[in-house]
Amino acid sequence: MSDKEKIMLVFGTRPEAIKMCPVIRELRNRNIQTVVCVTGQHREQLQQVLDVFDVKPDYNLYIMKQGQTLSAITSRVLERITPIYSIARPDVVLVHGDTSTTFSAALAAFYKQIPVGHVEAGLRTYNMYSPYPEEFNRQCVSLLAKWHFAPTSWAKHNLVHEGKDPAQIYVTGNTVIDALRTTVRPDFTDDNLEWAKDSRLVFLTAHRRENLGEPMRAMFRAIRRVVDEHPDVKVIYPVHMNPEVKKVAREELAHNRIRLVTPVDVITCHNLMARSYLILTDSGGIQEEAPSLGKPVLVMRDTTERPEGVDAGTLKLVGTNEAKVYWEFSNLLDDSTEYSMMAKAHNPYGDGHASERIADVLTEVRT
Ligand code: UD1
Ligand code: UDP
Repeated sequence: MSDKEKIMLVFGTRPEAIKMCPVIRELRNRNIQTVVCVTGQHREQLQQVLDVFDVKPDYNLYIMKQGQTLSAITSRVLERITPIYSIARPDVVLVHGDTSTTFSAALAAFYKQIPVGHVEAGLRTYNMYSPYPEEFNRQCVSLLAKWHFAPTSWAKHNLVHEGKDPAQIYVTGNTVIDALRTTVRPDFTDDNLEWAKDSRLVFLTAHRRENLGEPMRAMFRAIRRVVDEHPDVKVIYPVHMNPEVKKVAREELAHNRIRLVTPVDVITCHNLMARSYLILTDSGGIQEEAPSLGKPVLVMRDTTERPEGVDAGTLKLVGTNEAKVYWEFSNLLDDSTEYSMMAKAHNPYGDGHASERIADVLTEVRT
């Protein structure tokens, strides 16, 4: 990068922030001019991450509304970010992953003819409705991105298969592992760990749009039944702030060994995961973090764009059907052989130096 060139990083939700803050830190360590624009698609869940990584955005578009629709997120980001691009005049825009923020920020950059770098490029299910709308978002961003930062060689393979120029695809590892290297602490403790100290701790998260409503009710019913039958099990569930998720969680998970808590900061989250017995989730990022922590994960989705963790043996796709979730969760608690096979540390998502590789590429291609 020449001294005058400027990179703008745009993100708006919790997982994008967790995965972009290590990149911001690396670019700033190299004295590369960086500008941070948050869309504010999330509010509290975003601020928690910015506080932990001590990142103060240069621009905040404050777009979040309670129960926001996909159209509203998309149009508000498009409208509000375009003047920011005109004022800040970045030479490169970096976006991350597959949210509506990602899609709209990349589209607006394309309209302004600003080259886009896509971090965490190439993840695919090839099912537009699973995850929804993320599969659409990431495929669209791949169409217009100039540099594709693929976390794994499988992700690169997808992009090559779609006809992207291999010279523009860089396998970097996933920046979430960079973050994880700084958060897990052997001496970590908190009230939740104290509460669960004589039990097997199950860490639970759920929020996917395609699971809202009956699928989420079904998986929660299954979890509650299994907990009821296992007196040595306690569950901690930091409930996503989506009002639809909160309502279903409150209605289906009332139990004295299930703790519903507000979203926890990323340090607490990673340390709770690291001390858990197993994890139940529909989250994307948690599927990447769990293998390096050696924690078995039952993924309550029908598809995954992260087959590396399934191949490594840490992740198992169980869907959202009540009987299936009930059986798989019970089995993992009761069958120690199955448990040991899944509870092995693997790291298919990189060595924790992904941000350095991204910074190296940006430095090289812009000089
Ligand atoms: C979004 C992303 C999803 C990502 C997830 C990570 C889209 C379409 N979805 O889903 O890809 O996996 O973030 O968590 O981009 N809310 C708050 N405060 C917050 C955050 C959310 O009150 O800090 C509530 C609001 O009522 C908001 C709702 O949650 O309307 C849903 O948020 P939204 O960003 O639309 O969708 P997510 O389900 O979070
Ligand atoms: N996470 C967090 N606090 C929580 C729940 C999750 O910091 O209360 C972290 C988690 O470790 C992972 C990321 O948030 O890094 C995943 O976010 P989410 O599940 O919301 O989104 P997804 O990854 O599915 O897009």
